[in-house]
Amino acid sequence: MQIVILKNSAEVAEYGANIFIKQLQSKADSVLGLATGSTPVALYQGLIAAMKSEKISFKNVTTFNLDEYLGLADTHPQSYRYFMNEQLFDHVDINKANTHVPPGDAENPIEACVGYEEQIKSAGGIDIQLLGIGRNGHIGFNEPSSGLMSRTRVKTLTKATIDDNARFFAEGEYQPHLSITMGIGTILDAKKVVLLATGENKADAILATVEGALRASCPASALQLHTNAVLVIDEAAASKL
Ligand code: GLP
Repeated sequence: MQIVILKNSAEVAEYGANIFIKQLQSKADSVLGLATGSTPVALYQGLIAAMKSEKISFKNVTTFNLDEYLGLADTHPQSYRYFMNEQLFDHVDINKANTHVPPGDAENPIEACVGYEEQIKSAGGIDIQLLGIGRNGHIGFNEPSSGLMSRTRVKTLTKATIDDNARFFAEGEYQPHLSITMGIGTILDAKKVVLLATGENKADAILATVEGALRASCPASALQLHTNAVLVIDEAAASKL
């Protein structure tokens, strides 16, 4: 694992965006693995700016998002599909038909998981996967105890994650407890992995990811197995290393 420690979240976003810009400049038809959460938002803004200044284009790009809440249709404002449209897809020249988010309203979620794996495979696999990290070390919605070789599946969210993400839901609004998420094995299959983390509340998770044992109780520690993974973190997130 390569670890890049930068001063603050703005530098992390810029560094991360540059990795994706270089990727698209060297392979215009890249398959990108994308993430939600607050951390990647500034990186997406960097990509939108790069497209507007004609440094990159998304015309031939295919994307696969890590995860989605099970029980939310893609029109729901808290769905990850809605988030991706708002934060990136609506602002770039991508063909939306080439953007994929696990279907939160699938009639048969188990079949949908198998189908998602097949779609990734038939796109030729993911060239570069973007990740954030949960305070408990989760990646995508692979909560602690996730199998280190798991594939896309339905996963129950932990109370910690539900509480952390409650800030996005209005008081009294239905908040799903289930998700569809790429598995850790799916993530490890990406040719390159870029994990962003900022802020002191991620310091324990980063410590466990980098210096802890490889173990299911810290899903991100599985990145120790990846031969082309980079952690781009700020000083606060690195403060316990
Ligand atoms: C959610 C997402 C993860 C993300 C995490 C951290 O649980 N499923 O992919 O990494 O939130 O989010 P944030 O960047 O807002 O801290």
